[in-house]
Amino acid sequence: MSAIHPPATRLWWKQPLDRVEGTWIAIAFLWCLIMFFMMPYWHVFGKQNLSNEAYRTTPEVYSKKAQDMVDKYTVRTETAEKIPVVHPPAGSDVYLIARLWAWWPILELEKGKSYRLHLSSMDYLHGFSLQPANINLEVIPGYEMVVNVTPNEAGSFSIICNEFCGIGHSTMASKLYVVNK
Ligand code: CUA
Repeated sequence: MSAIHPPATRLWWKQPLDRVEGTWIAIAFLWCLIMFFMMPYWHVFGKQNLSNEAYRTTPEVYSKKAQDMVDKYTVRTETAEKIPVVHPPAGSDVYLIARLWAWWPILELEKGKSYRLHLSSMDYLHGFSLQPANINLEVIPGYEMVVNVTPNEAGSFSIICNEFCGIGHSTMASKLYVVNK
């Protein structure tokens, strides 16, 4: 049999299963099962996967909540665009907006304190990627994602967008500050 000519015996698919073929099917199936059960395993015992909550929202509702926080807790502004740097009280709800092609505002959190970090997009799909901590979350329009975070290291972290979102995708970067109280 070749790839060009038809097989000599037309009913070639009715041959009994070869042992090699059967072995590979078994290996592939077993590997599927292992990967399937590793998903919940890593969620519970690994450190990669965060448990998040998700709620339906709209850009209007969400941006109002972010604006309220910014109005109350802005401590300074940064860059030529005067992006507010917000230092919300420890334990509170903090909001981050993703949109073409920026993150808003800049959050300043305290080390060792817990926060409920909310994320939503005003337009298209974006990706929240916190470096070098390597925390990655999808930021989806119409949904408000909430994760409980407790920064364990002080410093200046980079937020980059890791979902391609158009011409300005590569410039969609910001910061997150963690300060010692
Ligand atoms: Cu936002 Cu890529």
